[in-house]
Amino acid sequence: QIKGEGTAHSKLILIGEHSVVYGEPAIALPFPLLMVKSTVQEGAGEITISSDFYNGPLGTIPDRLEGIAVCIRESLKFLAKPAKDIHFTIKSMIPIGRGLGSSAAIATSVVRSLFSYFEKTLSHQMLMYLVDIAEKYAHGNPSGIDMECVSRDVPIWFKKGEAIQPIEMGVPLNLVVADSGRIGDTRAAVTAVREKYEKHYQKAKQSIKYIGDMTRKAKSILAGERPEKLGGLLNKAQEELMKLGVSDGNLNELVTCARNAGALGAKLTGGGRGGCIVALAKNMEDAERISDSLKAAGAKDTWFFTLGMSQSAS
Ligand code: MEV
Repeated sequence: QIKGEGTAHSKLILIGEHSVVYGEPAIALPFPLLMVKSTVQEGAGEITISSDFYNGPLGTIPDRLEGIAVCIRESLKFLAKPAKDIHFTIKSMIPIGRGLGSSAAIATSVVRSLFSYFEKTLSHQMLMYLVDIAEKYAHGNPSGIDMECVSRDVPIWFKKGEAIQPIEMGVPLNLVVADSGRIGDTRAAVTAVREKYEKHYQKAKQSIKYIGDMTRKAKSILAGERPEKLGGLLNKAQEELMKLGVSDGNLNELVTCARNAGALGAKLTGGGRGGCIVALAKNMEDAERISDSLKAAGAKDTWFFTLGMSQSAS
């Protein structure tokens, strides 16, 4: 019988991906339409996992999922529990490798379910420590924005080394997300930007700083009552992401399609080079039309939703 349960939602970076790795701020939003749920029950003498991405004992997990295994073992060490007799069932609706934070959300739900199984309190700090282990395996040297976002229910202002702040929102946002259907390797995209940063320092630095400036502007626009002003900033951020080499022909096409269908602004979201785009719509009617156009243009999946206003980040 099930004794432990943990969930996490997917995430969207509204603005600030990649530049966040270089100390600029980013704004990330919870994307509650896509969730992961992990449940834990008594196992049969060893740790086992059932999921869409792996079924079997933890000991023989493939290399690409090693981060989850290490994260589970480290959690058990912290819980001072023997590493056996546990069965995880992980159900994730989040497509993998689309910049939606699937790896962070899976690790978050797994750690939460394990602590719930052993009826132990899990502090946010401990959760971040444990999920970071899995994230380092998945992405190399992530900024930490994904795990901070998938574990909180409100939009966040994230800057490396600083306390997370809730984003103040004056009015709700109508958003459309479209999945290109192609896996984007975040680690490779981050490495590509790093190479640009080293080879063409001035240009890359300028783009990074510019995205940071637009993220700061976005924060104050979000606090006001004219969210449509955000559209232009999203478009400008997309241009800089293109210069940094993390967009590609197909993502550019989807971005253009969203704008032509009436989006106030659109850009890639997450690591890029595949994955998803996010578009800002004036209202839900527009959002639906943009979503239909994106599907007709070849997007594998689309979602539209209203992100409500929020009060606190913890
Ligand atoms: C990935 O969701 C966001 C990136 O900025 C990488 C990171 O911050 O770790 C591309």
